[in-house]
Amino acid sequence: MSLVNRPRRLRLTPAIRRLVRETTLQPADFIYPLFVRHGEGLRIPIESMPGQAQLTIDLLADEAREISRLGIPAVILFGIPAQKDAIGSDNFHDCGIIPNAIRAIKAAAPDLLVISDMCFCEYTDHGHCGIINTPEHERYNPRLPAGYLLNDATLDLLGQASVVHARAGADIIAPSGMLDGMVGAIRAALDAQGFAHTAIMSYASKAASVFYGPFRDAAESPPGFGDRAQYQIDPANRREAQKEIDLDIEQGADMLLIKPALPSLDIIRDARESCHLPLAAYQVSGEYAMLHAAAQMGWLKLPGAALESLISIKRAGADMIISYFAKEASRWLESA
Ligand code: PBG
Repeated sequence: MSLVNRPRRLRLTPAIRRLVRETTLQPADFIYPLFVRHGEGLRIPIESMPGQAQLTIDLLADEAREISRLGIPAVILFGIPAQKDAIGSDNFHDCGIIPNAIRAIKAAAPDLLVISDMCFCEYTDHGHCGIINTPEHERYNPRLPAGYLLNDATLDLLGQASVVHARAGADIIAPSGMLDGMVGAIRAALDAQGFAHTAIMSYASKAASVFYGPFRDAAESPPGFGDRAQYQIDPANRREAQKEIDLDIEQGADMLLIKPALPSLDIIRDARESCHLPLAAYQVSGEYAMLHAAAQMGWLKLPGAALESLISIKRAGADMIISYFAKEASRWLESA
């Protein structure tokens, strides 16, 4: 039988498969997340995220140099402060854990971009992403339910904290709380203090996902009551994700971030087709844990499963991927 159209002609050898490959991965695609912990000389492994650890600031210099050597252009920072309080003061203090971490990384590896995850859940004693409506707080609003996350009061603090992080040397601020107006408020605060050159990578579409579970152990930031469904997007909603993306573009976001990654491939594709900004996707803690758990059981193989996930995220339209696999993947790609 003569078939004119034989796609398998282009799959015959590794060389021809390489030639027609549409998507590739490289270390420059990755952003590596770091958990920075108070204390000294500590590298505390995170049980549900094999290979990942909380690090104290004195260990960051070596870590930053290693990441840089692997060709990874950026890190994103999460802080575990010594003290938490109702408004997350550590996050907007010049000597808070993250400003100190930013200075340590910049001193050791000046070319490594530092992205600061801008949220309050790691710094508040109640574990929510901003100020909670309680009668004790000066911005208490009796018309809103007790326990509600106060939007506009939190925006003021997000602006202040962003300026503090920018002053410490952060290149990019990445607001991750899904508050209304967060990008506009942070842009205005940065510009007013002379940080017009500091970029904003907005977590534009962040689902209220159970896949953040291991992260909340890692960052010691689970909500003390309730959940995050009043601010993060319902994972069932695709149009709403697009609306959030449009709003962040209007407010001046320089880059967009979509999260989680593998469960949101349609949303990544929509965003890629509807806008012209650089697009990042976050392969979150649960995605990482899932692959490692299956590998430990012998049910899936690493690195194959990790690399296939990463390439799928890129194929869907992400220009860059925040991933706990960033360092290993860079090594795997080097030796491939
Ligand atoms: C902070 C934040 C979270 C993640 C990134 N930034 C946790 C959350 O929203 O509960 C999750 C990242 C991951 O799971 O790897 N708001």
